Amino acid sequence: MNKSTIALCAALALFLSACGTQSAVVETAAPAESSGLVAAKAKFSGYTAADFAAGQALYQGNCGRCHGLYGPRSHSEAQWAEVVPRMVVKANKKAEATVISPEGEQLIVRYLFAASN
Ligand code: HEC
Repeated sequence: MNKSTIALCAALALFLSACGTQSAVVETAAPAESSGLVAAKAKFSGYTAADFAAGQALYQGNCGRCHGLYGPRSHSEAQWAEVVPRMVVKANKKAEATVISPEGEQLIVRYLFAASN
């Protein structure tokens, strides 16, 4: 293989991988672009995959301490909006510290929305 063939292959590989990424978003949603994440991004301005991961970590780390973790689809969006703030008070009281801040509470609510869509 001479140098220009290698350069051509590299360019082709880049081109193909770029195409692959795009079609993954449109057709078969990869985990990072699940329908729930797309829905959450549309609903909450500036919402990112990192917000999703942070909300999930807060939920899994704090919300199964006194009972099992409820599935995101076990409650409607309106029910979560009522239950989560109530439970955040319990979680912080039990920990005797602010383990879930107001921002964390919002991340959990948004995670539950994203994970149930
Ligand atoms: C300190 C213990 C404790 C922690 C931590 C806790 N819960 Fe609860 N949870 C309870 C108790 C007690 C109940 C039943 C009484 C009630 O509903 O208030 C309950 C009930 C629930 C229910 C069913 C109530 C309903 O109205 O449907 C959901 C859903 C729930 N918790 C979610 C959460 C989430 C989300 C978190 C994390 C933010 C969490 N819990 C953290 C103690 C806890």
